[in-house]
Amino acid sequence: MLIISIDTSCDETSVAVTFGRRILSNQVYSQILIHKKWGGVVPNLAKRAHEEKIDLVIDEALKKAYLINQNLPRRATRHNRNVDLFLKKIDYLAVTYGPGLAPALEVGIKKAKQLAKQYQKKIIPIDHMEGHIYSCFGQNSRGNPPVKFNFPYLALLASGGHTQLVLFEDHLKYQILGETIDDAAGEALDKAAKLLGLGYPGGSVIERLAKTGDSSFHKFPRPLSRSKTLNFSFSGLKTAFFYHIKNLNEADRVRNLNNLLASYQQAVFDSLLIKLDQAIDKTGVKNILAGGGVVANLKLRKKIRRLISKRKGSVLFPPFISLYGDNAAMIGVAAYYKAKRGVFVGRPDKFDRIPRASLEDKLSF
Ligand code: KG4
Ligand code: ZN
Repeated sequence: MLIISIDTSCDETSVAVTFGRRILSNQVYSQILIHKKWGGVVPNLAKRAHEEKIDLVIDEALKKAYLINQNLPRRATRHNRNVDLFLKKIDYLAVTYGPGLAPALEVGIKKAKQLAKQYQKKIIPIDHMEGHIYSCFGQNSRGNPPVKFNFPYLALLASGGHTQLVLFEDHLKYQILGETIDDAAGEALDKAAKLLGLGYPGGSVIERLAKTGDSSFHKFPRPLSRSKTLNFSFSGLKTAFFYHIKNLNEADRVRNLNNLLASYQQAVFDSLLIKLDQAIDKTGVKNILAGGGVVANLKLRKKIRRLISKRKGSVLFPPFISLYGDNAAMIGVAAYYKAKRGVFVGRPDKFDRIPRASLEDKLSF
């Protein structure tokens, strides 16, 4: 099944071509340089940049897919030099309808509808978080890694916009066990980096600086850790960090920058791990999936691995670094399983973005 997928949920314009779980291309145009000077994503600038780039990114994704499609049936490869003919050959289009920024989501949906009409293809509607879950099952064009599904899974999703624990019981069957009641984990890292003038997005900068820091230098709080809820909270931790920094003199702040960041990063990650551990207790599920931009952090992945090995469970991360942050390939992988179960947009005129979409929503389009 050959699918073209589009994700414009935040500040990445991404288009991918997938064949089943196999990723033939996964083009991502990042708007980081546009939003950097504002210290966060500006919705209308995001919309304009998506509109400017979407056609180019589609073109690139299609062209790249031709180059690595030797393993595909002839049907898919015959007209491999012509974008228009290739579009005619695809089976379905997939697009993210939410959650995300409304003006940004609109661009991808509009484009998907336009192509669907022009080429008479069905649209597979995908929830962005569903994409992050399925990112763990992506494969290269040769079908590696050949991971098999072994339900049920407990998914930890941590990105700049979301932090969730999801029980993934079977394809298309999700139960949200917990989510952040304020900031997302990535947002907590981004805001700390912004406060210190370290740039945006902050997660990877903090990872680099924290490497040479002492994470036991200062004990920041682990909000909700004693509570039975599986929800997360990062705003109290962020505030504690702000006040701690504010009360330090400039020289101490500079001298201990790496130690402070390592301690703060540790508190963010511990908060994730405490709830993951509690979720294992509560559900008895020890097959873990972890995805989202924050999980790109090597220290976090090491901590998750250590916890899961202690709990005698197993953990799957996205197999390629390109599948951690926002990308359309993960949308294409999720779309394959949705299409196999016959989930398509039935009424394109009613199909619209849902900025606050939840994995538990029943769709009405
Ligand atoms: O999944 P993603 O690309 O976009 C959203 O759906 O939000 O996640 C972006 C977030 C940002 O907050 C960024 O700071 C964080 O992921 N991030 C990281 C790392 N790389 C990106 N956080 C920790 N360590 C990293 N290496
Ligand atoms: Zn995301």
